Amino acid sequence: MRRRNFLKISGLSAGTVVTGGSVTGFLISSSGCKKEHHMGMMTEPVMATEGEFFNPLLFPSEAGVNQTLTAQTTTANLKGTNIPVLGYQPNSLLGPSFRINKGDAVNILLQNNLSEHTNIHWHGLKIPALMDGHPDQLANAGGTFRYQFTVNQRAGLSWYHPHPHEMTGKQVFQGLAGLFIINDAEESALNLPSGQQELPLVIQDKRINASGIIYNPSMEEVMAGYMGESIFVNGIYSPFTNVATRYYRLRILNGSNARVYNLAFSNNADMIIIGNDGGLQNNPATVKEILISPGERLDVLVNFNAVPVGSEIFLLSKQFGNGGDAQGKQSFKIMKFKVTTSFTDTFTVPATLSVLNAIPASSAIKTRTFEISNAMEHHGVPMNDGMQMRHRINGKLFDSNVIDENVSPNTNEIWVFDNSDGDEPHPMHLHGVFFQVLGRTGGRGNLIPSENGWKDTVLVMPGEKVRVIVPFENNTGKFVFHCHNLEHEDDGMMLQYQIK
Ligand code: C2O
Ligand code: CU
Ligand code: CU
Repeated sequence: MRRRNFLKISGLSAGTVVTGGSVTGFLISSSGCKKEHHMGMMTEPVMATEGEFFNPLLFPSEAGVNQTLTAQTTTANLKGTNIPVLGYQPNSLLGPSFRINKGDAVNILLQNNLSEHTNIHWHGLKIPALMDGHPDQLANAGGTFRYQFTVNQRAGLSWYHPHPHEMTGKQVFQGLAGLFIINDAEESALNLPSGQQELPLVIQDKRINASGIIYNPSMEEVMAGYMGESIFVNGIYSPFTNVATRYYRLRILNGSNARVYNLAFSNNADMIIIGNDGGLQNNPATVKEILISPGERLDVLVNFNAVPVGSEIFLLSKQFGNGGDAQGKQSFKIMKFKVTTSFTDTFTVPATLSVLNAIPASSAIKTRTFEISNAMEHHGVPMNDGMQMRHRINGKLFDSNVIDENVSPNTNEIWVFDNSDGDEPHPMHLHGVFFQVLGRTGGRGNLIPSENGWKDTVLVMPGEKVRVIVPFENNTGKFVFHCHNLEHEDDGMMLQYQIK
């Protein structure tokens, strides 16, 4: 049942504040639990505050096939002061960006200098289960974990971040994440904008004060996901970069815990989408705005050719609808492009980028449906945890001792994520595979242009049901799948599948 219906049935209207104890016996309300809040009042969005866009955009250093990543408490200059952060290298929010060729064997040592356990999940890499950063595979405080695998997949933008259950949200929010770029011959043959014209952009919101990056989600913030008021790109607050009147390739990761962005340019320039989570799409698609949820990647070409030298153009997040109480309520600037140089560009956007075959739905040997609405949870009828509202998949919370789904190697399956009765966005992510989105009903009602081709994370908005087809290969072992709103994930909105 959806919120509005429930409110009607229970005789409340939106905006009513249910005070503790007034409707006990049905609504669970007491001073220790904010369910009444969620029932009657909007979950407040965290508004983004814009800076002056004076800070030069920087890029993390690049790393190759041999690298040590030292998870540590360090300090970084954020918004003009040095504050404590977590990093994979000293004095920096993000770890180095790996740039790896298809076929390379990598050898990465995680040195855990934190006072708690951590690990690294390679989000978007198809690698053996024991290398994947499953929440069971941890480096203890002071310990190490060696990641060794061969990169055997097409070019694309992947990333890495910690995955210790119930601590992922905090560790990522406080700074642990990095990019993993794979190059291959198919992609280089296209001669896409590169070097100074290829801009990896990690977009993240942070909550900052003088003592550090604050991570202390209230119960409501576990519900909506934890958001920050300060928008960072590559660990830089309110940045700008100088550009010439030519094409640029923006390789964008939404590395935020919960915030969804609706990207657009302030001059309404075309965003030419050429790729997504799993690399290049078949053909470019031109849009004016595009949603990107936590964990998703976008490969976008933009042409500053028609823009007079001296202009300033902003990458924005525009308002959007249907994002639940806490998302999409505001337009704000993310970063500034200063057009400073004129250039005569000879690049033309290739009409064909790749040749990916659609997997026919008829090839699926099984359909599994996952209920992700959490409707009764949110709306006053507790499940079996009494006071606790929790985010679940099919009514279940993460339990590392339980294999929730058994999958056979080398089979195709249809997985359905059903948020029909929900009121929160859920970016659903599978480890160990890429999938193709077959369709969406409810809500936006269709695929968006960034959803063609290979995906590993798909946004399921309130009211939506999304069907994906997953080719499971012979990569045996157990993997997790979960909501990539990291507060939802840490709250238990994660299950396991095993290929066996
Ligand atoms: Cu980027 Cu299991 O996640
Ligand atoms: Cu992942
Ligand atoms: Cu979620």
